[in-house]
Amino acid sequence: MQIRARMSMSADGYVTTPNGWPALTADPAFTSGESHGIREFLEGCEAALMGRTTFEPALANNRWPWPDLDVFVLGSHRPDGTPDHVITDSDPVRLLEKLRSANRGGDVHLIGGPQTIGTFHALGALDTLELVLLPMLFGGGMQLTPMLSPDTGLTFRRERALPGGSVEIVYSCRGSRAELPGKPASQR
Ligand SMILES: NC(=O)c1ccc[n+]([C@@H]2O[C@H](COP(=O)([O-])OP(=O)(O)OC[C@H]3O[C@@H](n4cnc5c(N)ncnc54)[C@H](OP(=O)(O)O)[C@@H]3O)[C@@H](O)[C@H]2O)c1
Repeated sequence: MQIRARMSMSADGYVTTPNGWPALTADPAFTSGESHGIREFLEGCEAALMGRTTFEPALANNRWPWPDLDVFVLGSHRPDGTPDHVITDSDPVRLLEKLRSANRGGDVHLIGGPQTIGTFHALGALDTLELVLLPMLFGGGMQLTPMLSPDTGLTFRRERALPGGSVEIVYSCRGSRAELPGKPASQR
C-alpha cells in the first residue's frame, strides 16, 4: 500500500484559488470535462484519505465523489450527513492503523488538504507527492507549505503532459518524523 498525495496547483504555487476552492476547479479544461489524469491515477487506488475541511463540501454534492473507494477522514467530529461507510477519526495514528488494516493491496489517494498531507508526512507515511501544474496564475491562495514541511525531501520520478495544458509531476518523498502540523497532542 502506497499513500499518494495528489494536488492541483497553479503555476505560481497555490493549491487553492484566492477564495479557497481546489486549484483544479478554476481551470477551464476542468469545467469542459478534462480529467487531468485522475482516471489513470485512480486505477491503482482502493481508498481516499482526506482532512475534514476537504471532505465536508462533498456532502453537499449531488453525486458522491468516491463511488469506488473506501473513504477515510481525519477530523475532530463526524460531520452531519456523513455516510455510514466513511471511517472518521480524530487521531491520525489511529486512522493510519485503520487504513492499513482495511487495506487489500491497493494504494491510497491522499486528497489533501495541506494540513492533512503534512500530518501524514510527519508520521513518515507519505510515499509520493504528485502535482498537477495548471497553466494558470492565481496571485493568492493556500500553499502546500508550511503545513507540509519545507524540509520534505522530494525525488523526481516522472512527468507527463496532460491534455488541456497541465503537467503532472511525480515525486517520491523521504520519510520523516516531524511535529504534526495543526493541533497540539492534547487537543487531538
Ligand atoms: N488543489 C487540490 O488538489 C486540493 C485538494 C484538496 C483540498 N484542497 C484545498 O485545501 C483546503 C483545505 O486544506 P486544509 O489544509 O485547510 O484542511 P484539510 O487538511 O482538508 O483538513 C484539516 C482538518 O483535518 C483535521 N486534521 C488535520 N491534521 C490533523 C492532526 N494532525 N490532528 C488532528 N486532526 C487533524 C482537522 O479537523 P478538525 O478541524 O475537525 O479537527 C483539520 O481542521 C481547501 O480550501 C481545499 O479546497 C485542494
